[in-house]
Amino acid sequence: MPARPEGAENYEVPVLTDGTVVLRRLETRDVPQLAANCADPVAAEYTTVPLGYTEDDARWYVEEFVPEAWRTGREYNWAAADAATDRLWGTVGLNALRGTTADVGLNFGPHARGTGAAEAACRLLLDYAFAELGLTYAYWMAKVPNWASRKLAWKLGFRSPVRIDGFMEQRGASVDAWLLTLGAGDPRSPQMPWDGPPPPAPARPVDTDRRP
Ligand SMILES: CC(C)(COP(=O)(O)OP(=O)(O)OC[C@H]1O[C@@H](n2cnc3c(N)ncnc32)[C@H](O)[C@@H]1OP(=O)(O)O)[C@@H](O)C(=O)NCCC(=O)NCCS
Repeated sequence: MPARPEGAENYEVPVLTDGTVVLRRLETRDVPQLAANCADPVAAEYTTVPLGYTEDDARWYVEEFVPEAWRTGREYNWAAADAATDRLWGTVGLNALRGTTADVGLNFGPHARGTGAAEAACRLLLDYAFAELGLTYAYWMAKVPNWASRKLAWKLGFRSPVRIDGFMEQRGASVDAWLLTLGAGDPRSPQMPWDGPPPPAPARPVDTDRRP
């Protein structure tokens, strides 16, 4: 088993920050933003959150599921918040712990995407997982075709992407997944040229003069 975070049995969550993003304990004040993040259609498409996510779901997650998971060592989830305002950007965690490995799990709200917050949060998480918990490998699993997730993994240095059909369970169904690997000693920067599609074109503003 990987080392346990100090104080995990009492749900003491280490605070990790780079000055822009802070990883901290999820609190009841995060419930409205967490519910909005999980009700987002992109989260529904690519993560395992229940459909029709409500504030009651978020409250259960914050007040029951996450504390219990820390106490038992099942998984370790953090709030990722703006270090200046404390507004919740999203969540990030070490899931499926086995041996000295774990999967990285994350879900950031639409307001956080493209800001660099998810990348910063993952860097803090990975530093902590490798340096403090003694993990030897971290894995990244993304439902095909979650290119935003795959690209973030690529930026962080995750390598050796493979596609395994039906590997990911999503609400009882088996869906196709990409898996990527990062070793404790690997560089945290792209290890190969980007092999995915170019960024999607930005939505064009409606030209009101040319409307019929
Ligand atoms: C995955 C996630 C954390 C990524 O956050 P992010 O890095 O801030 O996301 P971005 O929107 O900046 O997208 C990352 C990159 O992918 C690119 N990208 C996004 N969608 C793309 C697509 N359909 N095709 C090609 N590239 C795409 C973006 O252009 C961006 O590239 P750039 O940095 O070169 O501009 C965030 O999108 C998220 O939380 N999504 C919902 C839940 C989820 O998918 N969780 C991950 C489960 S594995």
